[in-house]
Amino acid sequence: MCGIVGYIGSQQAPSILLEGLGRLEHRGYDSAGLVVRTDGRGTRALRVAKRAGRVRDLADGLPKRFTGTAGIGHTRWATHGPATDVNAHPHTDAGQRVAVVHNGIIDNASALREQLAADGVELVSDTDTEVIAHLVARSPADTLEGKVSDALSVIDGTWGLAVLHADFPDRIVVARNGSPLIVGVGDKEMFVASDLAALVRHTTTVAMLDDGELATVTSGGFTTFRHDLTATAKAATRVDVDPDAYEAGEHASYMHKEMLEQPAAAERMLRGRLDERFGATHLGGLNMEPREFRAIRRVKILGCGSAYYVGQMGAGLIEDLARIPADAEAASEFRYRNPIIEPDTLYVAVSQSGETIDTLLAVQEIRRKGGRVIGLVNVVGSAVARECDGGIYLHAGPEVAVASTKALTNMFLGFALLAIQLGRVRDLSIADGRRLVTALEALPGQIEQVLAKEEEYAAVARTLAEAPSLFFIGRVRGFPVAREGAQKFKEISYRHAEAYQTSELKHGPLALIDPALPTVAVVPADDLTERNVGALHEIAARRGPLVVVTHDGVDLGGVAATRIDVPRSEPELDPILMTLPLQLLAYHAALHLGHDIDKPRNLAKSVTVE
Ligand code: F6R
Repeated sequence: MCGIVGYIGSQQAPSILLEGLGRLEHRGYDSAGLVVRTDGRGTRALRVAKRAGRVRDLADGLPKRFTGTAGIGHTRWATHGPATDVNAHPHTDAGQRVAVVHNGIIDNASALREQLAADGVELVSDTDTEVIAHLVARSPADTLEGKVSDALSVIDGTWGLAVLHADFPDRIVVARNGSPLIVGVGDKEMFVASDLAALVRHTTTVAMLDDGELATVTSGGFTTFRHDLTATAKAATRVDVDPDAYEAGEHASYMHKEMLEQPAAAERMLRGRLDERFGATHLGGLNMEPREFRAIRRVKILGCGSAYYVGQMGAGLIEDLARIPADAEAASEFRYRNPIIEPDTLYVAVSQSGETIDTLLAVQEIRRKGGRVIGLVNVVGSAVARECDGGIYLHAGPEVAVASTKALTNMFLGFALLAIQLGRVRDLSIADGRRLVTALEALPGQIEQVLAKEEEYAAVARTLAEAPSLFFIGRVRGFPVAREGAQKFKEISYRHAEAYQTSELKHGPLALIDPALPTVAVVPADDLTERNVGALHEIAARRGPLVVVTHDGVDLGGVAATRIDVPRSEPELDPILMTLPLQLLAYHAALHLGHDIDKPRNLAKSVTVE
């Protein structure tokens, strides 16, 4: 959420900053701004340009001769105060000697604003960030490092931030506490960013700050230190990333690209992790012995949004294959109910970004109480990955679209691998293990088959897009599929989409069924097919339009419905194949309605604030 870029070197900073902001725009897109240190003789002043709207609006409106070889920029997702020109970052002190860009939230912002106002400081924005600029400007310390450290010592909250000061023209000072900050090393030039995406075209030699760490960045290098100004001596390392993976290429949107990448991403996820001979899986990153797997009595999965829904699919897999009680819970609620942490429970945090603050705080709560937590995380080295005792990386590659797709598919596969592992040290037979391993091997190809029917789904989606409100229904394994389907649909089409257990319809929601309210029903070929088909008849009898995601050969009993057949896997693995058409329904509905697919309104990638 929100993006930061910075540059110091000998090139013109504005174009580098604007390009970097464009690459981070998915993380916040209601306003953008930048500040440069002007290189004009004598003054060494700062120049700021910022406005509500997109990065391209900022670029179009940049004043003439807006030049400088050092600068910082920001793309915002509003927390304190609406998206206005004034509330956009950077924020400065009254004399515009200090400029700050900030990701995160300052919890004691109101108290600090009151104190500053009482001291005669005029605050011009509604933001929490502005106080940092004033606090830095008012610090008596004689170094920029000291001033930033002084300011942070009175702030409670989270930050990834960058500070430029007219009196210290050779440096940018950056800091991290709960919000990522990366320093990129170039040739006599240096970069800073909140996300690798903004750096990879310039450098892949980077240093990732830890929480509580700061860095001084000059054109010649960087040094890291703690709040008490003692050095931490962090070195930069090379990260193995393909810059092209961050491009949309020939696709009209990142979401489209990422959906179509799913077969390859799934293959990467499974590579080297399947053991056909023993019907088992290899998950070395968990750092756990078979004896420890056997000692687990319960599994608790924590994630947010779609990751939580896939967590529900994962809990089903673990109960089915390992016969261990398992459930998923929204990580955003978990720590507020003073959860009981049990020594023989395995906690699993699931997150694409590894930055979601609610998931991260849940992990910290578990660890503080002595629990063991593993992560299913996509972004290598992210905060959640670093805090966990072990984990399974998702290998989905960079996910840029706000609506998550390929990472979710790989989360499901991660749960399948874990469930087989847990099952095979218990009662899952070698034959059953082999049955699932074989089915997993076939999945990338089956995913490809589903995606190949995109045009068919697009036609269905265009009809659904006309309805202001929709139901998504499913039972047991199908219910989290319905939840994820509704989530994706509402997220990018802005239609009201609600998920119910099919079995619950008669207990209330059926009252809403009429010809204007379509239902998307998940009906796999399983023990519940007949009951599901019964519910379809009840909907049809009330003239509710129906789209049914099902398997070839399932008899819908003559009910009037648009049918989407997906290939059969093993029943335990069916949920993921049934989720894919729902992604494409959401995508094509949003496309038909003319929405910005990758940047849905009010949202942003990676929710780093509570
Ligand atoms: C939905 C979506 C969100 C995320 C959620 C968790 O398409 O993208 O619901 O799934 O914010 O994000 P991560 O997985 O990064 O923790």
